[in-house]
Amino acid sequence: MNHHSDNRRMEGPNREAAGEMETGQTLTDRQGHPIHDNQNVRTVGDRGPTTLENYHFLEKITHFDRERIPERVVHARGAGAHGYFEAYGTVGDEPVSTYTRAKLFQEQGKRTPVFVRFSTVVHGSGSPETLRDPRGFAVKFYTEEGNWDLVGNNLKIFFIRDPLKFPDMVHAFKPDPVSNVPGPVGMFDFVSRSPEATHMITFLFSPWGIPANYRQMQGSGVNTYKWVNAEGNAVLIKYHWEPLKQGIRNLTQKEASEIQGMNDSHATQDLYEAIERGDYPEWELCVQIMSDDEHPELEFDPLDPTKLWPPEQFPFLKVGKMVLDRNPENYYNEVEQVAFGTGVLVDGLDFSDDKLLQGRTFSYSDTQRYRVGSNYLQLPVNAPKKRVATNQRGGQMQYYVDQAPGQNPHVDYEPSMMDGLKEAVQSGKPHEPHYNERLVRKPIERSLNFKQAGDTYRAFEEWEREELVSNLVGALSLCSSEIQEQMVKHFTEADQDYGRRVAEGLQHHTGGGDMREQAVEEAKREGKEADPY
Ligand code: HEM
Repeated sequence: MNHHSDNRRMEGPNREAAGEMETGQTLTDRQGHPIHDNQNVRTVGDRGPTTLENYHFLEKITHFDRERIPERVVHARGAGAHGYFEAYGTVGDEPVSTYTRAKLFQEQGKRTPVFVRFSTVVHGSGSPETLRDPRGFAVKFYTEEGNWDLVGNNLKIFFIRDPLKFPDMVHAFKPDPVSNVPGPVGMFDFVSRSPEATHMITFLFSPWGIPANYRQMQGSGVNTYKWVNAEGNAVLIKYHWEPLKQGIRNLTQKEASEIQGMNDSHATQDLYEAIERGDYPEWELCVQIMSDDEHPELEFDPLDPTKLWPPEQFPFLKVGKMVLDRNPENYYNEVEQVAFGTGVLVDGLDFSDDKLLQGRTFSYSDTQRYRVGSNYLQLPVNAPKKRVATNQRGGQMQYYVDQAPGQNPHVDYEPSMMDGLKEAVQSGKPHEPHYNERLVRKPIERSLNFKQAGDTYRAFEEWEREELVSNLVGALSLCSSEIQEQMVKHFTEADQDYGRRVAEGLQHHTGGGDMREQAVEEAKREGKEADPY
C-alpha cells in the first residue's frame, strides 16, 4: 500500500541549507525537529524543577501515555501472519460457479492475499497461551472485489445460539468482577442453565480445548452462511479449515501445565519461528453445502450454531488452500489493530438467517469503531488492496480522503452531476429471499441440546474421554452441588456413561469452592443479600 509515502522529512540539500548536520539515523520528534539531548529534561538548574515548555518531553511522554488501545473484549491474546489463499476452481467434482459467483474461488490457481489472526477467547492480552479456551481463527481475504473476513474458531460449534446471551456468557466466563480471580464457577453456573452449551463444553474440556499451538489446529466459520450463484440462487454453507502437512495436535491438561510453567507465549513463538524458518503452515478450505430451506427432515436446525452438520450426510468439499508465509513487520500495527467482522462479505457470499451470526455482525464493527477508532478501515492492515472511493469524510485520525481519481474533490455526496462517485452496476441477479412470519421472541423448535454431545463423547478415543471426565471433575468440584447436579443431568442426557463417570468422579473429589461460590455461601449463612457495594 503506498498511500503513505513519507514526505514529512526535509532531505539532503534543504537540511544542509538549514545548517543542520543530520544523518539518516538522526533522532527527531514527530514535528521533524532533530533531538540533541534525549537524556535530560529541561530544568531550572541541574536539580529541577522541570519546566512545562519541554515540547520534546511532552510529546514523548504523552504519546507513551496513549500507547495502548483497549484490548479486544474477547479474543484479546493473539498472533498473526500474512499469506495467500489459492483457489481450486472447483467444489468437490463441480465447478464452484454452480454455487457461488464470488470471484476469488472461480479460477484454479488464483491467489488472494490474506492476513490471519489466531487467538484465545476469554483470557486477557497477557495470558498464557496454554489455557483451556476455544481458539480464534480469523482470516481476512484481500480480494479484487474488496475484503472478505471469515471470522472463525478452531472448534466447529459454539456455546449458545442466541446473541442476546453473549454478553452474559462472556461475563460468566471472565474472572470474578470483584476479585478478578478466574475460576470455573461462573462458567458452570451459566452453562448449567444453558443446556445448548453441553456439546461445546464436551469439546472444550476434552483435549480439543487446548490445541498444541496455532499451526496444528483446525478452523471453522461455525455459523451458517450462504453462497449465491450468478442466477441469484443460494445454498447454505459451513466453512472449515483443515491443517495440511502440519496435522492436528491437542494437549492433555498435564502437558499444557508443563509448557505453561516454562513459556506463556509458546503458540505465538511457534507460529513466528515456523514462518521464519520457511516451514509455512497450510490449511485446506472445505465447505459443507445444504439446499437453502428449513430441512424438516433433519433433527437439528441447519441455522443452529451449536450443531455439527454430520459429514457423512454433508461431506467436506475442498475449495482451495491457504499458506501463511510472512510474519508481521510490527505486532501492534498489524495484529493488534486488525479488525475482522462477519459482516465483511463479497458478492456471491451472503448471510444466513442464523440469529447468532446477525448479532455478531452488528457487534464487530461497532466494537472496532470504539477499540481502534472511526477510521479503522484506513489502516493498511484493514484497508482493501483495491481502490476505495466513499463519501465518508473526517472523523478522528482520518489519514487520507477516500476519493477516486478524477472525482471532483468538491463533491462529497451522491447523487451528483458534477463528477461525483456513481453507483456500481449489479453484477449478477440479486438473491431475494421472501419472508412471511410474525415478529416474535421464541427459541427455535429443534433444540436437540444433548444428542450431538453424546455422539461426540462416543466418537472420542478413550484417552480423550478420560481427560474430559477428569478435567470436568476438577472444574466442577469447585462448584456448588446444585450446579454439579444440573451438569451431571446434562451429561447423562447426552450419554449415560458420560454422566455416570462425571458423577462418580465428583463423589471421590472434595472441592473447596472458588471465591464466587464462597461469597454466595457466606451471604446465605449470614441470611442476608450480598451487599452490592
Ligand atoms: C472477536 C463478538 C461469537 C469468533 C470478537 C469481538 C467481539 C465479538 C466484540 C472483538 C472484536 C474486536 O475487538 O476486533 C461476538 C458476539 C458473538 C460472537 C457478539 C455472538 C453473538 C463468535 C463466534 C465465533 C467468534 C461464534 C467463532 C466462529 C471470534 C474471533 C474473534 C472475535 C475469531 C477475534 C478476531 C480477531 O482476531 O481480531 N467477537 N462474537 N465469535 N470473535 Fe466473536
